[in-house]
Amino acid sequence: MADADADLVAERAALAEAERTIAPGSAARAARDVLAEVEPEPGVAKPDPILVVEGMRRSFGGLTAVDVDHLEVQRGAITALIGPNGAGKSTLFNLLTGFDRPDHGNWSFDGRPLVGLRTHQIARLGLVRSFQLTKALARLTVLDNMKLAGQDQAGERLLPALARPRWRAQEAAIEGRADALLERFQLSAMRSQLAGTLSGGQRKLLDMARALMTEPRLVCLDEPMAGVNPALTQSLLHHVTGLRDDGTTVLFVEHDIDVVMEISDWVVVLGEGRVIAEGPPHTVAKDPQVIEAYLGVADEENVG
Ligand SMILES: Nc1ncnc2c1ncn2[C@@H]1O[C@H](COP(=O)(O)OP(=O)(O)OP(=O)(O)O)[C@@H](O)[C@H]1O
Ligand SMILES: [Mg+2]
Repeated sequence: MADADADLVAERAALAEAERTIAPGSAARAARDVLAEVEPEPGVAKPDPILVVEGMRRSFGGLTAVDVDHLEVQRGAITALIGPNGAGKSTLFNLLTGFDRPDHGNWSFDGRPLVGLRTHQIARLGLVRSFQLTKALARLTVLDNMKLAGQDQAGERLLPALARPRWRAQEAAIEGRADALLERFQLSAMRSQLAGTLSGGQRKLLDMARALMTEPRLVCLDEPMAGVNPALTQSLLHHVTGLRDDGTTVLFVEHDIDVVMEISDWVVVLGEGRVIAEGPPHTVAKDPQVIEAYLGVADEENVG
């Protein structure tokens, strides 16, 4: 393992350990209480930001998809990222996690600048995003999907280079973690099934479980509840709040405003790539700019 990679792993382990000392259960109250003191204005500083974004821009041809002056994400909270279609939410997730590069801008995770780092390095520091099951992954078993997520994010290319006994130990550790997560997400029975045979709701659970393979400290979930029936939505919501209660910071994109109101501690509104509002859910819901930019659109969509 390269020295730089070993350093990243050690750094992450120390930080994860420090976070485990925070008592779970009180997490929801703690996050909301702390954020209640924060002014609801775009770009406002947070008491304990795990992520800080500064001057991040990304254009596609003539279109500016992301144009964020300043954004902080509070540690240990569930932050919802909302905004109309094309507002730049998914692009922002891609930039933050190294799947796309900004034209300019800086961002740091726990004080560590992430500019220039690759996806697997960012994942090792503890920042990941979820992905929907692709066609290729649908042809693998549920367990192999999980194992692959663990390897990908840990830097797949490193594995063959490791000494064989260590490689085996790592394989066993990855499989152990996969099974623990499958159990948590009630997917153990489908362990050996092809992922493509799962129901829509089970796929969503698998997407979330895969994102957790590397024990992230901040997980970005892009529409984790989209297209899922109401019964399963509740279970997914429960998993998201469970993550926060275990000390994981959650940033999630969601179009269903009821879901946003129910589980988020803080809401950030994007409009044409910019942060146009942020604040506690019920404050943001009353913001006239938000109603115009987002809720109006959402209402029209819901009608159709
Ligand atoms: N790879 C790309 N090439 C060209 N344009 C892109 C690319 N990715 C995103 N865009 C454009 O950037 C803008 C922001 O897209 P993005 O997918 O981030 O929006 P979003 O907020 O996630 O929308 P939705 O709610 O529909 O998922 C859109 O206008 C989109 O068409
Ligand atoms: Mg999107």
